[in-house]
Amino acid sequence: MSGRFLANVPGMKTASAVPELDPRTLSEDVFHRDYVANSRPCVIRGAVKHWSALEKWRDKEYLKSRSGQHPVSLFLCELHVTKKRIAGNERVTTFGDAIERLHSAQTERGIVGFPVPPEILSDVGDVSFLGQTDPAFWYHRVRGFFYRRAGTAWHIHQFDETLTCQIIGRKTIGLVGSANPYNFDLRYIFYTEDYYDDPTAFADLEGANLPWYSVTLEEGDALYIPPLWWHGVAPQTETFGITTAVTWRSPPHVIANGIIRMARGEIDMFGKTTAPHFQSLVEVARKMGLERELAIAASASPM
Ligand SMILES: [Fe+2]
Repeated sequence: MSGRFLANVPGMKTASAVPELDPRTLSEDVFHRDYVANSRPCVIRGAVKHWSALEKWRDKEYLKSRSGQHPVSLFLCELHVTKKRIAGNERVTTFGDAIERLHSAQTERGIVGFPVPPEILSDVGDVSFLGQTDPAFWYHRVRGFFYRRAGTAWHIHQFDETLTCQIIGRKTIGLVGSANPYNFDLRYIFYTEDYYDDPTAFADLEGANLPWYSVTLEEGDALYIPPLWWHGVAPQTETFGITTAVTWRSPPHVIANGIIRMARGEIDMFGKTTAPHFQSLVEVARKMGLERELAIAASASPM
């Protein structure tokens, strides 16, 4: 059932609320200075409720007729991080077929995540407090997650900023920062993924008093997720849902801080050193005088 993996995370029971902001009074300066520059999550209620995607994407025929031809991977499970849980659940198909199946009551659960196709990208509007930003290292500017009763396993973005925007349905997101003495325990638990079935998976962290957060997004809400924050996503509605993720490059001091923490061995670059955009990160690190630190971080990576 949806959300079971949040139920097995003891920290979710006592999690703090994410700070809530009003887009009508949130300026670009305050958003970037108080939240992005400090890698501090916040939720902006109703930030994207004016996007035409909230109306148009409710019509499956619209999505299918505009963008149905694109090839996608449909996962008939949560968006997992381990091969053992993904095995046998991936179907390579078209976006049109995936949309049809995600609307069907016959589909127990499923999710597609991919860059929002160009034919429907104009349905994604502006974000008043974001302003001009540089392109993310690793992600397309807007990714779409189209799902039925499936969320995303706990994971972390080593680089890049994310604004998770809820289009259809309601979902709960748990968060916990990685700058704590228990981060390697968290990493082990999240990358093993046994917490889906094992309510005792977090037993070693009893008494750790970690700063867990949780927030429930309604349609039109946006959640700012900084890099180096673990997060897990659970839908709270049983039917078809859509979330988008708008991404951009972190400010230089946040990138530098990440590289330095990775060089110290506080966190790893799992999955990044072999990615096609790694070279652009090398270039940025070189300009910041952190080429050596990045090389240390990359060589320590389990990849
Ligand atoms: Fe994420």
